[in-house]
Amino acid sequence: MARKVQFVETVLRDANQSLIATRLPYEKFEPMLETIDKAGYYAAECWGGATFDVCLRYLNEDPWERLRKIRAKMPNTKLQMLLRGQNVLGYSHYPDDFVRLFVKKAVENGMDVIRIFDALNDVTNMKTAMEATVEAGAIASGTISYTTSPVHNHKKYVEMVKELKAMGAATICIKDMAGIMGPQEAYDMVSAIKDAVDLPIDLHTHSTTGLAFMTYLKAVEAGVDIIDTAISPFSGGTSQPATETLAYALRQLGYEVDLDDSCLITMADYFKGVRDEFVKDGTLMPKSMATDTQCLTYQVPGGMLSNLLSQLKQMNALDRFEEALAETPKVRADMGYPPLVTPTSQMVGVQAVRNVLDGQRYKTVSKEIKAYCRGEYGTTPAPINPEIQAQILGDEKPLAGRYADSLKPVVEDTRAKLGDLAKTDEDVLSYIAFPNLAEKFLEERKAKEENVVTYSIVEC
Ligand code: CO
Repeated sequence: MARKVQFVETVLRDANQSLIATRLPYEKFEPMLETIDKAGYYAAECWGGATFDVCLRYLNEDPWERLRKIRAKMPNTKLQMLLRGQNVLGYSHYPDDFVRLFVKKAVENGMDVIRIFDALNDVTNMKTAMEATVEAGAIASGTISYTTSPVHNHKKYVEMVKELKAMGAATICIKDMAGIMGPQEAYDMVSAIKDAVDLPIDLHTHSTTGLAFMTYLKAVEAGVDIIDTAISPFSGGTSQPATETLAYALRQLGYEVDLDDSCLITMADYFKGVRDEFVKDGTLMPKSMATDTQCLTYQVPGGMLSNLLSQLKQMNALDRFEEALAETPKVRADMGYPPLVTPTSQMVGVQAVRNVLDGQRYKTVSKEIKAYCRGEYGTTPAPINPEIQAQILGDEKPLAGRYADSLKPVVEDTRAKLGDLAKTDEDVLSYIAFPNLAEKFLEERKAKEENVVTYSIVEC
């Protein structure tokens, strides 16, 4: 019997985030939710990552309400979110009480699969979120942030997978955020993990370097169970490869693919129109759709190259680009080879530019790099260069143990502080995650409600 390969549709989250900076408002995708629900996906990735931040910051949407509305329209398909471990949906670590309540509420509001990763692959930063997910009865997808370095190898990744399984992972995800995983590497890594644990494996990659179709194909040959794809108008470039193309190719190769082609056609027709609107207003830029092989040469994510360029441009130092690029892997090595993903990619890139422009390495250091050297982001894959760490920290001692253990609970105090501005636990969580944005959102909502009340009194 043909082996089945399952699909995760990313148009609502990662494709949306990678191509149009997560600017897709709920109304724009609502008409397709019932079709996506009927299409036969393993899951629809629709929440988490940057969606929460962008809903509050730019779209004036309550992210929790968005989740409930999606859930109501999609009763048959698992909903999936991306969660940054102890960082949840933010950029630094939160106390455990917040992580636990956030996960609990995400599941209560409709989430089925929580994909949990840590920027350093430090599993102690994933443990609380994993436990909370299992406790809430959802699927914990333990995730490897894929990178290459002298200290990253299959043996280490397999050890990590075993630890994640022990924490309750129901599936394993290999997350290649930069799209640098090649087909042979995918074959070898999926085989190594399959040999070590009996859990479904999901491979997540991006089309950035053009490798993705080949990489998925070899991963499928090695037994990968789930792949992440985007409906064609939102596929390619910095997004995922196209759902329809992979369904076609895998069927031709004799694999079973349970996707309904007529649903995919309806989705593609609809999202073509949506894409064209974002092309017209300039949100979707041609360079996001292009193939960028520079990432393979420098082993840094595409987003990081454009960040380096824009930083140098701001400082009127574009002529130092090659130097900054050459400095980037050196800073990464000094920092113990972190995978380059939010927030480590930004931290390493900014430091490389400073080292070059200052004409002296680590003369100036951001507060994030200082916190990193103190151990606030967790255990680094290799030790931080001790001389540089001492230079940055001075007399300060690096932290022993998990940073979140030193953080005081925040939920109860925040609830008390917000008073009647927060109506629900979800409001409290939004405020802790993004205080300024959430406060503005909650105040506007309150004002709107008060207006409605006044109006209805007049009506009587
Ligand atoms: Co991604």
